[in-house]
Amino acid sequence: MEVVLLPTPEDCGRVVADAVAGSVLAALGRGGPVVLGLATGSSPLLAYRELLRRHREEGLSFDGVEAFLLDEYVGLPAGHPESYREVIRRELTDELGLDPAVVHGPDGAAADPLQAAHDYEDRLLAAGPVAVQVLGIGANGHLGFNEPGSSLASRTRVKTLTEQTRIDNARFFGDDVTAVPRHVITQGLGTILGAEHLVLVATGEAKAAAIAAAVEGPLTASCPASVLQLHRHVTLVVDEAAGAQLTRADYYRYVLSHKLTDQGW
Ligand code: F6R
Repeated sequence: MEVVLLPTPEDCGRVVADAVAGSVLAALGRGGPVVLGLATGSSPLLAYRELLRRHREEGLSFDGVEAFLLDEYVGLPAGHPESYREVIRRELTDELGLDPAVVHGPDGAAADPLQAAHDYEDRLLAAGPVAVQVLGIGANGHLGFNEPGSSLASRTRVKTLTEQTRIDNARFFGDDVTAVPRHVITQGLGTILGAEHLVLVATGEAKAAAIAAAVEGPLTASCPASVLQLHRHVTLVVDEAAGAQLTRADYYRYVLSHKLTDQGW
């Protein structure tokens, strides 16, 4: 796993945008449909803004790309402003010129969410593999909404959020924890591992313990993000605050400053 330790969240946003654009453009260059995996939440927002800037000012085009979301709340009606489909449309895909018809997410409003989760896994497998998957991380080490204890081999399914995750996400619901759904449909850890390139971004000290556990701790369901250690192509982008508990920080900086010219992300 490549750990990219950078001074500021803005630097992280630029590198994540580089890594995502690089993998998408390379996949488009190979021909055929390209799948981009998207996370929601605060962590990727600066990267999404940077992608939009490049789209506006530098002609970066994602024509031919289909997007698949990592997860969705169960029980919010379609079109709810905090449903992840709506959030991603607002924050990225509309302005990037992606037709809503090619932006897919689990159907959290379905009458049968268990079946909707299976259906989403099938749709993703049929469209995939995901060329590049953007990821955030929870302060408890969750990846997608695979809370601690999730099977490292899990596939897309319904999960129950921890109370802490609901509290963390209440900021998007007017600070009303009771408005945050209890259940979600999330890609499983095994599903996420199927992507060709994983790009995780984390900023701020609240993520420092989770990042250290994911990168340098044991492979364990108690820190779902430690499953990244099994993947062959991970770019993990953190600012100094989120990287503060990494014991090999000096080595990661050394590797970064000695990257070969064409090494890419
Ligand atoms: C969002 C997701 C979550 C978030 C994580 C961090 O689609 O899957 O794993 O990435 O909860 O959230 P933020 O970035 O808001 O701190």
